[in-house]
Amino acid sequence: MISKYLKIPSLIGPNTFDLGHFRNRLQLVRDYAERTTVTRGFPTIVEFEVSSRCNMSCVMCPRENVNVEQHMDLDLYKRCVDQIAGRAEMVILHASGEPLLHPDICEMIRYCSDRGVGTWLSTNAMLLDEKRSIELMESGLDSLVIAIDGDTKETYERIRVHGVFETVVANAERFLKLRRQRKSNIMATVQFIEMEENRQEADAFLARWGRYEDVNVFVKAIVNWFTDDSDLVPHPEFSEVGNSLRYPDLVCDRPWFWMIVKSTGLVPLCAHDIPPDYVIGDANMQSLDDIWNSEQMRSYREMVAKGKPYHPLCKSCDYCPARPHTTTGNLALASLDMLSVAKILFSVGYKKVG
Ligand SMILES: C[S@@+](CC[C@H](N)C(=O)[O-])C[C@H]1O[C@@H](n2cnc3c(N)ncnc32)[C@H](O)[C@@H]1O
Ligand code: SF4
Ligand code: SF4
Repeated sequence: MISKYLKIPSLIGPNTFDLGHFRNRLQLVRDYAERTTVTRGFPTIVEFEVSSRCNMSCVMCPRENVNVEQHMDLDLYKRCVDQIAGRAEMVILHASGEPLLHPDICEMIRYCSDRGVGTWLSTNAMLLDEKRSIELMESGLDSLVIAIDGDTKETYERIRVHGVFETVVANAERFLKLRRQRKSNIMATVQFIEMEENRQEADAFLARWGRYEDVNVFVKAIVNWFTDDSDLVPHPEFSEVGNSLRYPDLVCDRPWFWMIVKSTGLVPLCAHDIPPDYVIGDANMQSLDDIWNSEQMRSYREMVAKGKPYHPLCKSCDYCPARPHTTTGNLALASLDMLSVAKILFSVGYKKVG
């Protein structure tokens, strides 16, 4: 049963059991455990907002808060990847925008894969036509998430405003077919963010996409990114992170493990700083190492280390990982790289909605 969903060979990434990554992670775990303001390691995950533009306007997405809409400059991106190759365990190529809108997205992926950096990308699939599907497969992308949050045209288009249900379903099905034909190793996930508006379609969604043996179907807990919209309520069954506001003493580990570079090159405290408001540096002018331990970042870490209420951004964020086991978990997973860990988590994300 488990083997149906756990396809081990394609889950274990190229950087697993890498001694350099292992040492780096141990260092970060130690810094996090000691709540140091300076970290002696490099972030395990680096996220690039390759574009802050979007062709949709989804109801649950915090993107409407971005203050600049642009594609990331390719040279800036390459300079950043040069600094992280062999150090970060995984690169995420989406943030507040649609990555397939970037004209150089496949070159960006290739730049990572040529340097042994694992890549992860989520798309709304409106632009996932045949040509782009093949280019993505040839670029060396490790994991593609196709975000479809409904199983009927009405519900989908009410949530994913400006999306066209038939187009997205046809694009996803074609991608899966091509992936099979070309024997591509990309891990494919079809994702459903469960919320009040679509809960009644979760079963049908699982049935539709569960037919494909080689695709993960991931039901994701909704994150309330600082909206007061009471409709966006996480399903308790899936809300492993959604309850973290109940634990104000938890110290979020993100400022020790995760860095995001916005499309402008600005680096905020955390990926959840959408506008951004809490900038720790500028990758156009500073090295990522300098930014990671900049004076601003050190002062933010000091605030985050006191607990959720002590930083204005964290105070209302329900994404702080509700996992007191962070340190142990990190140590247990230290021999795997973050890409493999993320793939395994997604592959066990297939849940039967009761
Ligand atoms: C902001 S989107 C950007 C990438 C792309 N435009 C897309 O929709 O997949 C990044 C990921 O966040 C997810 N997402 C958007 N709003 C969310 C929310 N409120 N809670 C949890 N995930 C969310 C999307 O489904 C997607 O997988
Ligand atoms: S397509 Fe992605 S980035 Fe665009 S609004 Fe929807 S969730 Fe946000
Ligand atoms: S609590 Fe939320 S906003 Fe604060 S660092 Fe963690 S994920 Fe970011």
